[in-house]
Amino acid sequence: MSDDARKPLTKLAQIGRKPEWTQMPGQPGGIVSPPVWRASTILYDDVAHLRRAAGSSTHERLFYGRKGTPTAWSLADALTEMEPGAEGTMLYPSGVAAIACALMAVLKPGDRLLMVDSAYDPTRNFCSQLLDSYGVETIYYDPNTVSLDVYLADGPIRALFLESPGSLTFEVQDIPALTAWAKANGVVTLLDNTWATPLYFPALSHGIDISILACTKYIVGHSDVMMGSVTANADWFAKVRQTAYLFGQMVSPDDAWLASRGLRTLGIRLKQHQDSAIAIARWLTDQPDVARVLHPALPDCPGHALWQRDFSGSSGLFSFILKGGGEAARAALIDGLAHFGIGYSWGGFESLALPVDPAGYRSATTWEADGPAIRLHIGLEDPADLIADLDAGLARFRTVRDAE
Ligand SMILES: Cc1ncc(COP(=O)(O)O)c(C=O)c1O
Repeated sequence: MSDDARKPLTKLAQIGRKPEWTQMPGQPGGIVSPPVWRASTILYDDVAHLRRAAGSSTHERLFYGRKGTPTAWSLADALTEMEPGAEGTMLYPSGVAAIACALMAVLKPGDRLLMVDSAYDPTRNFCSQLLDSYGVETIYYDPNTVSLDVYLADGPIRALFLESPGSLTFEVQDIPALTAWAKANGVVTLLDNTWATPLYFPALSHGIDISILACTKYIVGHSDVMMGSVTANADWFAKVRQTAYLFGQMVSPDDAWLASRGLRTLGIRLKQHQDSAIAIARWLTDQPDVARVLHPALPDCPGHALWQRDFSGSSGLFSFILKGGGEAARAALIDGLAHFGIGYSWGGFESLALPVDPAGYRSATTWEADGPAIRLHIGLEDPADLIADLDAGLARFRTVRDAE
């Protein structure tokens, strides 16, 4: 745990660069960033050293390739440094693997889990298709709820899972209120913090026990690596690490190296994603064929006050709802876009547009909208080009909708 006075942007340039990962023993100087250390076998001087390595409980120690090498340790160390209050970070081959392993670290058969209704849909699938058969009951709650007392009536709750803003619909949760409730009731808290990253929302200092990132998105930032991370406080890190080892979780050193390279520019990339996304979201709110824009940084978005209180920035992902129209009208808008790719995922340098239908992924709340929804990821292109593209898209939408 560190009580580090450096500002986050300074940290991004410096973290994860321990001398033992960048210097040759006995030689002066060193390289800037830890290189790619590829390994399965580690060779020992003798049996005594081999036994000592096997008995070590620290994870930053050469033992066998599955426990990583300095390339992955550097990334994990950097992510820990980004989270004041963190004890350590484990890495996983995808964001979903990180979510699954974090949940398995805290839950046992017979436990009850409170899951936010706006969770990423594969998180919901993990609950219904695995935790259910493992004997864990999942109860979905409204992301706008602040008092969860009602759920204690049927017995204790083991864990509270949050995702804020929520997937597809971008509800902002009152995280300080919810973590205070959890602490008062002995409930462990887990947050999917992929949207804000620790740069715009240091989760552990807001009371969260376990913070999860799909590093695939903004940490990597270039749409070419799958990865997840789990950062935990001192109460939970040992359990998170043990569970990751038991499930044989690890990342390739090449992927860790790419993610570390992405991390160095997270600050400037997120700032640009933020500024362009806000400009485009504002423009969309003024368009007569747009019913609503779901972006927490817009003052008329329901979660705005909480976002403004708790977050230090917003990223490039948001949704908007069209006024009327059906599937064909929405597809006409998306299909003709010149500067937006059509694809899942987000967080890369490029813009993406995706038709989204939240109704199928909600059970504690009801999704109501005046028309179909589109999720945009705003990349690093010039926002004027993106606005012109969307303007032409809305004209195509109008033509098809009005003929329907
Ligand atoms: C909010 C959120 N969490 C987790 C994930 C899962 O990450 P991955 O695709 O790396 O498994 C995603 C992926 O889209 C996501 O949007």
